[in-house]
Amino acid sequence: MKYTFLSSAILVLLSSGLCHGAGIITTDLLRGAAGESVTFTTSVKPTAEPFLALIWSVNGTTNVITSTSVDIVGQGYENRITLDKTTGSLVLRNLTEKDSGEYELIIIPNGAGQIPGTAKLEVQTKVSRPTMACPTENLIEGRTSVNLTCNADGFVSTRVWLKDGRPLVSGGRFSFHDGNRVLSINPVDRTDTGVFLCNVSNAFSFESAKCRLMVNYGPDRPTIVQRPIGAELEDRVTLHCSADSLPKATFFWTFRNIKMYGPLYYIHEMEDWHLGKYTCTARNAITGLEASDVHILRDSSTAISGSMSMMVCTVLTLVGLMSF
Ligand SMILES: *[C@@H]1O[C@H](CO)[C@@H](O)[C@H](O)[C@H]1NC(C)=O
Ligand SMILES: *[C@@H]1O[C@H](CO)[C@@H](O)[C@H](O)[C@H]1NC(C)=O
Ligand SMILES: *[C@@H]1O[C@H](CO)[C@@H](O)[C@H](O)[C@H]1NC(C)=O
Ligand SMILES: *[C@@H]1O[C@H](CO)[C@@H](O)[C@H](O)[C@H]1NC(C)=O
Repeated sequence: MKYTFLSSAILVLLSSGLCHGAGIITTDLLRGAAGESVTFTTSVKPTAEPFLALIWSVNGTTNVITSTSVDIVGQGYENRITLDKTTGSLVLRNLTEKDSGEYELIIIPNGAGQIPGTAKLEVQTKVSRPTMACPTENLIEGRTSVNLTCNADGFVSTRVWLKDGRPLVSGGRFSFHDGNRVLSINPVDRTDTGVFLCNVSNAFSFESAKCRLMVNYGPDRPTIVQRPIGAELEDRVTLHCSADSLPKATFFWTFRNIKMYGPLYYIHEMEDWHLGKYTCTARNAITGLEASDVHILRDSSTAISGSMSMMVCTVLTLVGLMSF
């Protein structure tokens, strides 16, 4: 049957000089979302003379509409279809998954052979699980920018992004592109460390994909703690250096041009020559950054003026901070 239609159609099309190929439906595969509508468009040019018959069927058996001098609408298609009788194009509304199938149109023109066309319809109700490529390079605070792309097939009506379960809004370092498909973070910040999730959904289902980001940062300016705070000669003294950093920083001390590795500087018995300026430097191997701070070790038994100057220094620092 089909073969006969096909060959006669080709003959008709060739003889009329309107060769569009074997099918007159412009798309082989149509996708529609449940609840929405789909249009089967034909390549037929409207003619003044009406066709003898227009027949739409599905799966080779079920009548959708047979339009001659009267219209016979198939069961379940009442109020769901609109047929353009000049071109054969058909609108099918309020789609359900059951509408999926092979659609066939046969046009019988006046005084010529039949013109057939077929198209497959896929009605999608569920979103497919999206994919997201997670960055593999080291992310560095303030320097790296990241685009997270959430790719999903099927009918997606909404795409939202969450960070650690909280919705992300655009603004500042965050922007969304391509209908929320791409989340752009420019540049990354330490607070971005965590799980980014994209949630695609439609009226029927939702799916999500996620990426765990780790943003390397620092070291921040180190903090030096002396124990005991008021050390006197012959006391055992430790200086401890720490700095916020990801990954953890390594440390070295510089005192009188001597380098000592590690966060802890240990003085078994403080003597005069130990007094002076200690510099702690923190280093992050991934960011390649260094940060230093300085500590003055004093003999507190003679350091009235010393502690006075420290107080003055603190007050100055506070004034400095307050003026910001
Ligand atoms: C669409 O289909 C749903 C479910 O079958 C039905 O409840 C609804 O009335 C239909 N709407 C129209 C406009 O036909
Ligand atoms: C057509 O056939 C497919 C596969 O058998 C079925 O899933 C679909 O519901 C049918 N479509 C109609 C409109 O009967
Ligand atoms: C991220 O996407 C934006 C917008 O498409 C583009 O301008 C930018 O170059 C991309 N950045 C990266 C790091 O790929
Ligand atoms: C994804 O979105 C759907 C629909 O808005 C919602 O019901 C669901 O809870 C969301 N899932 C996640 C993991 O956020």
